[in-house]
Amino acid sequence: MRVFNFCAGPSTMPVEVLKKFQDEMLDYHGSGMGPMEFSHRAPIYDEINEGAMALLRELMGIPENYEILFLTGGATTQFEGVPLNLLGKNNKADYIVTGHWANNSYKAATKYGDCVVAGTSEDKKYTYTPDFNIRKDAAYVHITTNNTIYGTRFSKKIDTNVPIVADMSSNILSQPYNVSDYGVIYAGSQKNMACAGLTVVIVRKDLLNEESIVSCCPNMMRWTTHAAKKSIFNTPPTYIVYVLKTMLEWLKKFGGVEKIYEQNLYQAKLVYDAIDNSKIFSNPIKSFEDRSLMNLIFTTGNEELDAKFIKEATANGMLYLKGHRAAGGMRASLYNAMSNEGAQYLAEFIKKFDMENK
Ligand SMILES: Cc1ncc(COP(=O)(O)O)c(C=O)c1O
Repeated sequence: MRVFNFCAGPSTMPVEVLKKFQDEMLDYHGSGMGPMEFSHRAPIYDEINEGAMALLRELMGIPENYEILFLTGGATTQFEGVPLNLLGKNNKADYIVTGHWANNSYKAATKYGDCVVAGTSEDKKYTYTPDFNIRKDAAYVHITTNNTIYGTRFSKKIDTNVPIVADMSSNILSQPYNVSDYGVIYAGSQKNMACAGLTVVIVRKDLLNEESIVSCCPNMMRWTTHAAKKSIFNTPPTYIVYVLKTMLEWLKKFGGVEKIYEQNLYQAKLVYDAIDNSKIFSNPIKSFEDRSLMNLIFTTGNEELDAKFIKEATANGMLYLKGHRAAGGMRASLYNAMSNEGAQYLAEFIKKFDMENK
């Protein structure tokens, strides 16, 4: 029996996609071998690699003046990759710190140049989108569009000529974004794109130049290295690229980003309503615009009662509802692959638990 998996990542995947992996494991499209076994130099892998890039371009509306890179090392490697690739010409970058991961990206960048906090919501435990002040001569401003741990999303428009670099690890493909508003978008694959093991970087081509690269940047960390070789500079995580392509096919069949956004709004509203209408649960983020659609946090404010909720939820087939240790309480991750049934089941369970424990 399959459970409802509310893990923050790696996360649940659609059953029909998992079945496709099963079907194709031994023989992909009559090739006599599975996608794990292809040489990354074989034409069949070119189809997978370029097919995944084309689908991502189509689904996100990525213009032709942007390069798509398939890398490894997770988003954490790009916390270094971003400054190393962009601070060469102008040594300044601004960071809007809206949570744990945003803070990690800022701290990583301070090693490479004059990096400052342009705005932070730390004073209220990252429960809102702060105001910010961006230096006009910064090489870039870095934001995190969704805060996986504290359950917020970045709700303010940034009006600037400075290139915006966005860590979209936990909400890429979950709602429409205008890619042209960004200089760089990057994300780990393990939430809305694939299983763990791939990092996607989408970068405007004019930002891919030798002068922008910090001289100590290793060859493997240079985006230009991978762009020149269509992300087959060295052996890429071939199977994960295949998983990404299959997930993107599923998303396209579903109706694309606009359609999944409707579903994500529906599911998030269902669970937030159950929390807001309860006597014992609360969510600290007051504005709906600031509330994450992907990672919904809530608590009873009583550690023992929270533990009871998690225990009973687990016994009822709802897994990984414990909040991150930095935030406490509960967290339900409703990524693209979560079914309406899963969100409904959780919302009903919250209501029932509330009735029984108020
Ligand atoms: C917003 C965000 N950025 C970065 C990371 C770190 O990603 P990785 O583990 O792929 O390095 C995470 C992980 O959950 C995340 O949620």
